[in-house]
Amino acid sequence: MSTPHNFKSKYGPWALVTGAARGMGAEFARQIAAKGLDVVLVDILAEELSQVAEEVRKNSGVETKTVVTDLSTPGFIEMVRKQTDGLEIGLLVSNAAFGPVCLFIESKLEDKLKTVAVNIHAPLTLVHEFAGKMAARKRGGIILLSSASALQGSSYVANYAATKAYNLILAESLWGELREHGVDVLGFMPGTTRTPGFLLSKPHTERTRLITTMEAAPTVTEALAALGRRPSHIAGRRNRLTMFMSVKLMPRKTAIKLTGKTMRDLYGTG
Ligand SMILES: NC(=O)c1ccc[n+]([C@@H]2O[C@H](COP(=O)([O-])OP(=O)(O)OC[C@H]3O[C@@H](n4cnc5c(N)ncnc54)[C@H](OP(=O)(O)O)[C@@H]3O)[C@@H](O)[C@H]2O)c1
Repeated sequence: MSTPHNFKSKYGPWALVTGAARGMGAEFARQIAAKGLDVVLVDILAEELSQVAEEVRKNSGVETKTVVTDLSTPGFIEMVRKQTDGLEIGLLVSNAAFGPVCLFIESKLEDKLKTVAVNIHAPLTLVHEFAGKMAARKRGGIILLSSASALQGSSYVANYAATKAYNLILAESLWGELREHGVDVLGFMPGTTRTPGFLLSKPHTERTRLITTMEAAPTVTEALAALGRRPSHIAGRRNRLTMFMSVKLMPRKTAIKLTGKTMRDLYGTG
């Protein structure tokens, strides 16, 4: 287990977290700052972002910078560059995501393309921006937020799940490439996690017993502990067991149908 001191010397002095205004992103900011790293916080929600920055400064005494930007726009990286110029970003947490929950044929193309922009273009651009510099310094860490939905087809979130598979494979591939340069990479797969984003999707959790809902804090703690230990990690023992049964033991079509039924229970109209 990384002690706060060696976490900072391995992944400091600055971390950059996207989607940091709330949910798991805000929790990443809190826990990383508690380990003594200064943090650059990126989000589209200006007010919530400055509240998180103030809270983190007050509680951990670290420096913070905020970047209010829309990660679905190509110009976002210029805004990130402006705030990170001259800073040594030793840890990148690509956490922000977009993905309306609905049937594929019922969502607008515009939303589908925005999902690709926020969940694929933005992480890819950020990794491109910072990974080479970390490798040159021979140290650093990158966490790409994937999802348990990356592991098999998932009705109601088809495009989102596909973008999460991209993040998982990108992270695992870079784990293989960058480890010899001293850079740790993790593809992190939360299961259902009680965050503002999850609650806004209006899930009928009372209709199914097949999901386990975790809180953001222990989920993020697991991600930070797994960084440097393995290429990818599923949050929560129960989620790991469920995914083991689903991915390794069940025929693929049975697993996809079962996931589809759970998603219909959670989000279907009847
Ligand atoms: N919660 C779960 O059950 C769950 C399960 C598996 C994986 N995950 C993954 O975990 C990560 C965090 O999820 P979460 O539930 O904590 O999310 P969340 O509660 O929705 O928070 C995400 C933050 O990112 C911001 N964001 C979204 N699009 C953005 C954009 N275009 N530009 C800048 N900021 C943007 C959001 O702002 P807005 O609200 O204004 O969009 C919000 O502040 C995501 O990658 C998600 O896919 C979550």
